[in-house]
Amino acid sequence: MRGILLAGGTGSRLWPITQAVSKQLMPVFDKPMIYYPLSTLVMARIREIMVITTVEDQPQFQRLLGDGKQWGLSLTYGLQPRPEGIAQAFIIARDFLAGGPAALVLGDNIFHGVGLGQMLAGHNSPAGGQIFGHPVADPSAYGVVDFDPSGRVLSIEEKPARPKSRYVVPGLYFYNGDVVDIAGQLKPSDRGELEITDINQEYLRRGTLNLTLLDRGTAWLDTGTFAGLVQAGEYVRVIEERQGFKIGCVEEAAWRAGFLDDDELYALAGPLTRSGYGDYLLRLLDWKETAYLR
Ligand code: TTP
Repeated sequence: MRGILLAGGTGSRLWPITQAVSKQLMPVFDKPMIYYPLSTLVMARIREIMVITTVEDQPQFQRLLGDGKQWGLSLTYGLQPRPEGIAQAFIIARDFLAGGPAALVLGDNIFHGVGLGQMLAGHNSPAGGQIFGHPVADPSAYGVVDFDPSGRVLSIEEKPARPKSRYVVPGLYFYNGDVVDIAGQLKPSDRGELEITDINQEYLRRGTLNLTLLDRGTAWLDTGTFAGLVQAGEYVRVIEERQGFKIGCVEEAAWRAGFLDDDELYALAGPLTRSGYGDYLLRLLDWKETAYLR
């Protein structure tokens, strides 16, 4: 399975902060926002990833992430000149996906939970569409999924005024190779975007949309507003300071996935010691640390 990290958009809900810098490069406590969704893909054992950005922002992402070799990954870059919808990612990534299954993660979504990587890795060859569900207090701002007691999806509605459930679909979607053709047949919605909800609805119509609920111990944070950005930073800070384990550390995720060996992790730590980030990487090499953490 190949991965797509979608990091374009306008970020207008964070203006003026994001007028000159991409939202996905904003700090979330101790690392750039994009590290979190990138490590989610890596935890799902996905190694080949296309990072889609706006034209103006691409050089900064390349400066930060490079070609991914330093982390044992292969990163390529795609351009989305205008924010014409999340589903457009599959059209941009058509050649990169080469007909195979795809995982799409939004560049401003943060996931954190025990066993999440393994659970995601278990979905790497979906029979159709694989979406996830997570309860939120105010579902009306999201894609809302309704389901029966057996977990079968009944409906998905984008930003409904009267939500049928409290479960919404977070920005992480797995699809089989049909997704590129499905995306290619979409018509823009009233707001002028190719909607990811329309892709999910097409899989639902075909009877091949599978829903997995993320358990209550999984945190899903959306960083698109001022409050969301600060909350995410606080969440990460509280967990990291308390546990001494980082969230969204790409180096760690790659090392745990077996994409990096101990020597390579050690070498990455050197330039990062002044901020303390490198010390963390060195600590991971201590067996007592690894014995505890999976
Ligand atoms: P949104 O938060 O819906 O949009 P945005 O980032 O442009 O922000 P705002 O609503 O404040 O103007 O996007 C969710 C994620 O998807 C975010 O990481 C940006 C990305 N995205 C794209 O890359 N291209 C797109 O066309 C859209 C709609 C979103």
